[in-house]
Amino acid sequence: MIKGKFIVLEGIEGSGKTVACKTILKTLHQYNIKNVKLVKEPGSTYLGEKIRKIIKNYKDNQELHNNAELLLFYAARIQLVESIIKPSLEKGIWIVSDRYQLSSFAYQGGGYNLSLNMIKNLKNMFLKKINPDITFYLDVLPEIGLKRAFKRNKPDRIEKKSINFFEKVRNTYLSIISKEKKIIKINANQKKNLVKNSIKNKLYIWLKNN
Ligand code: TYD
Repeated sequence: MIKGKFIVLEGIEGSGKTVACKTILKTLHQYNIKNVKLVKEPGSTYLGEKIRKIIKNYKDNQELHNNAELLLFYAARIQLVESIIKPSLEKGIWIVSDRYQLSSFAYQGGGYNLSLNMIKNLKNMFLKKINPDITFYLDVLPEIGLKRAFKRNKPDRIEKKSINFFEKVRNTYLSIISKEKKIIKINANQKKNLVKNSIKNKLYIWLKNN
């Protein structure tokens, strides 16, 4: 029996997911929802952190096959769901997750042109029952997002990809969210405070109605 709610943040590099997660936690707290766990994909478990390192630091001169990468993300995700997300929701703990399945559709499906049906099959095979109650998609233009991301850190293997890759990722996000009801789109091209206010207001409205 699921008693907690599951909130997911999605968006490309530099869309401001980290700040958005903090805003969500603060807003939930103000709404008196204090039993909340924050997780991040890939990561947040022993296996997930190992996989995160492998994926991010994989040697540029050695090909990581796209299907292999997809399954690594799924291995990390299954571990996270089974060991943290599912048991927490059952206990009434809320989960805020920085990325979830939509990332695989957008990056592996949109960015790498893997079949969306294949990804849907993985989702249905392993994680059919665990779906977000609400997803916030932070929409940013790749040229703005990447500029922000590179100001913070040296680009990792995925971030070194071309702007065209991130355009394909963003277009896939946009196409999926146009067909889904439980996803709220936030204009993340705006200044940080405006983005934060927009998330806060939309989350309040959602909390009142759910
Ligand atoms: P991370 O440093 O967490 O990036 P961000 O702060 O933007 O979330 O690295 C996660 C990277 O992995 C990011 O480039 C997106 C990518 N990714 C996928 O390609 N597919 C997935 O299913 C997930 C969860 C992440």
